[in-house]
Amino acid sequence: MISVRNVYKSFGSQVVLDGVTMEIEPGKTTAVVGPSGVGKSVLLKLIMGIMTPDEGEIFIEGENITAARSESRKNEIRRSLGVLFQAAALFDSLTVYDNIAFPLLERTGCSALRAHEKVLDIAESLSLTPYLTNFPEQVSIGIRKRVGMARALVTEPKVVLVDEPNTGLDPLDGQEVYDLINACKSQWGFTGLVISHELPEVFQVSDRVAMLLGGQVICEGTPAELIASTDPAVQQFLNGRTDGPIKIQ
Ligand SMILES: Nc1ncnc2c1ncn2[C@@H]1O[C@H](COP(=O)(O)OP(=O)(O)OP(=O)(O)O)[C@@H](O)[C@H]1O
Ligand SMILES: [Mg+2]
Repeated sequence: MISVRNVYKSFGSQVVLDGVTMEIEPGKTTAVVGPSGVGKSVLLKLIMGIMTPDEGEIFIEGENITAARSESRKNEIRRSLGVLFQAAALFDSLTVYDNIAFPLLERTGCSALRAHEKVLDIAESLSLTPYLTNFPEQVSIGIRKRVGMARALVTEPKVVLVDEPNTGLDPLDGQEVYDLINACKSQWGFTGLVISHELPEVFQVSDRVAMLLGGQVICEGTPAELIASTDPAVQQFLNGRTDGPIKIQ
């Protein structure tokens, strides 16, 4: 469960988030959508505690990450998070095996033997066993995404954050990533937050959708409720139109 309460964030005179409040419900996946530059990645960085809001609070599984002063306290709270970054962001110099093992060894007190078992288990579940000794550049981008997912899930996080699952993928591989997210959801039952501007594709992994615009959540509900919204900005965004209240840069 993630609770974002009245969060403000500006860079100089540019107001990016202007009082954002949202609840990411436990066991469900919420998509945060909105046009480019609206502040989706900033919101994700605030949730992860990589950035600090100017005002407001963010709770992760009941723990206030915005009030965490030290890096070690933030890391404690981050233990309940698994993150799949844009373009998977694997370590090129590490094998697939070591990429997956990394968060276990870095962030948990897991013994080397236990880490080994967990890496083999998750690799098996995600059909990555044949690639464990390969380096990221030796496998396809679709496999790299799967490795990124294995790395996000290996610590058994309660909450999984995904930023733009399909960056750098062609539409066919993109569908594979959505199928992967759905398969992982049903196997591990985490709370998910997926950031995307891919509509309507992202709806297939979303129980709920929140649309960001002008620094605020302008619409929140199920994908069907968003589609049925009469808000002209929501309709413009859903239909990819250039005319309407959203100014396209
Ligand atoms: N560290 C930073 N310093 C200054 N401005 C920043 C910083 N990070 C983000 N911004 C600005 O905040 C705004 C929102 O950026 P953000 O990356 O969150 O957009 P986004 O919604 O994720 O867009 P996209 O869909 O293109 O990924 C942008 O105008 C960006 O330039
Ligand atoms: Mg972004």
